Amino acid sequence: MCGIIGFTGQTEAANILVEGLQQLEYRGYDSAGIALNDENGTKVIKTAGKVAMLREKVDQASDASGTCGIGHTRWATHGGVTTANAHPHVSNNITLIHNGIIENYKEIAASLAVKGYKAISETDTEVAAMLIDSLYSGDPFETMKEANKILEGAYGFCIMFKDHPGEIYCMRNSSPLVATVTEDGAYIASDMVALLQYSKDYFVVPEDHIVVMKKSGIELFDIETKEKETPKMLHVDWDTTAAQKGGYDYFMQKEIYDQPEALTNTVAPRLHNGHVDFSADGISDELFQGVNRVIVCACGTAMHAGLVGRNIIEAMIRIPVTVELASEFRYMNPILDEHTLVVIVSQSGETADSLAALRLANERGAKTLSIVNVKGSSIARESDHVLYTHAGPEIAVASTKAFSVQCAGFYLITLKLAEIKGLMTDEEQADFCEQFEKAIGTVEEVLKQDDYIKTISEKIKDTFSAFYLGRGLDFGLASEGSLKLKEISYVNSEAYNAGELKHGTISLVTEGVPIIAVATQSSVLPKLMANVEETKARGAHVIMVTDKDMTGYEGAFDDLIQVPEVDDRFGTFGVTAALQILAYHVTVFRGYDVDQPRNLAKSVTVE
Ligand code: AGP
Repeated sequence: MCGIIGFTGQTEAANILVEGLQQLEYRGYDSAGIALNDENGTKVIKTAGKVAMLREKVDQASDASGTCGIGHTRWATHGGVTTANAHPHVSNNITLIHNGIIENYKEIAASLAVKGYKAISETDTEVAAMLIDSLYSGDPFETMKEANKILEGAYGFCIMFKDHPGEIYCMRNSSPLVATVTEDGAYIASDMVALLQYSKDYFVVPEDHIVVMKKSGIELFDIETKEKETPKMLHVDWDTTAAQKGGYDYFMQKEIYDQPEALTNTVAPRLHNGHVDFSADGISDELFQGVNRVIVCACGTAMHAGLVGRNIIEAMIRIPVTVELASEFRYMNPILDEHTLVVIVSQSGETADSLAALRLANERGAKTLSIVNVKGSSIARESDHVLYTHAGPEIAVASTKAFSVQCAGFYLITLKLAEIKGLMTDEEQADFCEQFEKAIGTVEEVLKQDDYIKTISEKIKDTFSAFYLGRGLDFGLASEGSLKLKEISYVNSEAYNAGELKHGTISLVTEGVPIIAVATQSSVLPKLMANVEETKARGAHVIMVTDKDMTGYEGAFDDLIQVPEVDDRFGTFGVTAALQILAYHVTVFRGYDVDQPRNLAKSVTVE
């Protein structure tokens, strides 16, 4: 999704803006631009393509001066990838950047046309700029308040008004904005990674609020009441290097290797003497009391963590768990009540569909608990309770450590439910914790197989398609492994419940087609291996990824990635790291950008 950066203060803004956009590149984008304001007015510099191209244009510009400015990276929603469609957009008195989607922009454009407004670009954003200009009466606040009543959709704006030099007015209805102030000036951004080098203290701009940024500082107002509010300050608990590559070739590689620490930081604070303890999270036991069903809502990788969670909770707690795609849940008129626990899983805490699902669950009276990685994010703030994962910033578009810690979150919730419902003795809880911590420890061992897994990746690097197989809990792992490969290497990869393959899809299994079979469940291992042998019999190139003993199955596969054996409940962590490494190396062999795959954004904050 789009990246936003704004600054006004005592120092030249151009470099702050371009550097901030570079920090936001990981979010995924296709064009970039800045606007600089000084005593001579406002200068816009923008381009289709990468921030590096923008920097060249800025360096070549003779008038790229000013200590006030806004910058933007655009992930195209309305209109192609062109310089004209890049932000900032200008309409007479207004220079504006936007994150989100204006759903009624066509009606607004039509109503403005009769007033003589004609858009240059194909974007909804320019229409918003024209609307705000058409409403402008010299008072930025009143104008934005009026525009807020007309605009429909999701937006975060940063606006410079021609007759208010040195000032930036920001409005948020749902797209995230964070802000901070230092002795050098006031800063705003779409996420904290862009501001880290200036401050580790920040505040989240609440929805339906306006931020006024001046050389003298920053002020926060409720858009309806115009009441000035004291921002609720937060502190980043990771250091600036956490948002750097740290010597790895890609952020994804670093984040795969971050997993042992991310898992420990997420799990250890919640396990004490063989019991799970959420008191430091402010999660009361009564959240879990009376729960007779669980619904998990999420998207993409986060949904796959829900698949793992469902298997664990149903197996151990014996209550029904359904996993819903948030984009479906929000429109399905779900059956919820006070005994339903809705768990929203989201690394960013800003995914539009997941946020909408949460709001629906809250409206319908369900208990809501979110598993979120970004502190203070919208989903975290609007849930009854939040179980933060402590993975640190995840920069690569392809989620890795976030998946592992999301799964860990479900293991913790399972243990809490078992305790509340009296389903496990103290000894059984202690054993669960011991097996859990042992499983987390295997990830370090799997990372040592990186070079070996790379040799396997090389064998399948040129494939057009691939199929990931798994049964039970392993289907969730297979799904995640498949998405990893698909989203960064562009291999046409699908995950299948192993038993389902012969009901159609096996027709696509021909000579050399890679089959990646995931096996951590002893109870169904023979069945899975039978399915694997059916593919081998048709010429598939089979890669086993397992912690189980493969003695007797040697003829069923071509390559074996053996991870340390653990209790069936906990095979998730070692296998996941192996699948991530496999996808990473295939992508590197194919020469693609591992961290910023085409068409994708790190946090999908639009529908
Ligand atoms: C996974 O690698 C992708 N980045 C994507 O599927 C992601 O998991 C999904 O968009 C959900 O994002 P969230 O966890 O921030 O809500």
